[in-house]
Amino acid sequence: MDDSMSDLVEKGKKRLQWARDHMEVLRKVREEIKERGTLKDMSISMALHVEAKTGILALSLAEAGANVKMASCNPLSTDDSVAEALREEYGMDVFAERGESEEEYYDHLNSTLEHDPDIVIDDGGDLVSLIHKEREDLIDRIQGGCEETTTGIVRLRAMEKDGALEFPVMSINDALMKHLFDNRYGTGQSTIDGLMTATNLQLSGKNFLIGGYGWCGRGIAMRAKGMGADVLVSEVDPVKAVEAKMDGFEVAPAKENIKKADFVVTATGCKNVIGEEEIKNAKDGCILANSGHFNNEINIDALEEHSKSTQIARDDVKEYRMKDGRKLYLLADGRLVNLAVGQGHPAEIMDMSFALQMLGAEYVVKNDLETRVHDIPRELDEKVAKLRLEADGVEIDELSKEQKEYIENWEEGT
Ligand code: ADE
Repeated sequence: MDDSMSDLVEKGKKRLQWARDHMEVLRKVREEIKERGTLKDMSISMALHVEAKTGILALSLAEAGANVKMASCNPLSTDDSVAEALREEYGMDVFAERGESEEEYYDHLNSTLEHDPDIVIDDGGDLVSLIHKEREDLIDRIQGGCEETTTGIVRLRAMEKDGALEFPVMSINDALMKHLFDNRYGTGQSTIDGLMTATNLQLSGKNFLIGGYGWCGRGIAMRAKGMGADVLVSEVDPVKAVEAKMDGFEVAPAKENIKKADFVVTATGCKNVIGEEEIKNAKDGCILANSGHFNNEINIDALEEHSKSTQIARDDVKEYRMKDGRKLYLLADGRLVNLAVGQGHPAEIMDMSFALQMLGAEYVVKNDLETRVHDIPRELDEKVAKLRLEADGVEIDELSKEQKEYIENWEEGT
């Protein structure tokens, strides 16, 4: 190994250790599952963002006795130091490189399937979709899967509705201990991290438009407001739009809001949230970023079409000089800014999401599940909550016998 490679491995090892030291919930779950031996000798294929926290999930599964092969679920989110450390130091099969081409990306997903998986762990739905489209031969032996994100769950539910889904999948995303924290506080913090790292500009006093007021959008709004920005929200769901309004944000269609937005972040799981009309209306100097899973939330073709030239303004910042003289800036080619530029969600947040991934994988093995998308059982959600409280040294109240009887007795009103 040459010096630069060993430096890279050393950096990756340190990042892994740092993440491990901040993932107490996963540690407890790992120890319990190892003890039960439920994942021993299971072949697991994973497609997740290859970075330090995910590395600890992969190592946890391996420590519980599983054979793990891992690829990235996004061509721009791999931390090469972590990928290299996992390969060199832990002998793990990791197929991922930051900036990989689309062809390499799919080759890597395919490589995770070389050991004929019993379980698949996915983020965004590409691996499950690939198996259904190209590797039907594997379907009979796959006991089930786990999916991490809103985007992936929307895809899987569409497959289920069409009768196309061929094995059960646990919706990790719908677990309370996942989306209430990962989507909200995780995306909130890591999106600001990505924006600040890419631009080094001030948020305070700026107009900050968020496309989508789901859990991710709510988290981004909360953090942008905390940084002193004036938050604008665009939403298609009337209930979420009312919520955004009552949370104190200005709600209007994206084509209107964008006329005054200094920053725009999309977080919807849908395409063309910032479409041609929005791009035509965008304020001069507007910074466009996406925190949703795929890079189709901002219509990059329309940006290209209406611009006369482009240049790289800073790392991860592409400047579009529009034909009408405006300048617009796109971060990380519209790829999820919190991982392509920022360092992803904080370790304590991924700790809970990945504990649920591990418990979800065990649930698949322990239960003969129907072929559909399944919610994580409430007991597992509560287990993760209790472990989190324990890790934080927080105690909570318990209902007394008298209180329990009171809430179960519908006859007694006063
Ligand atoms: N780190 C690992 N997986 C992640 C995800 N899905 N979102 C943000 N950060 C992550």
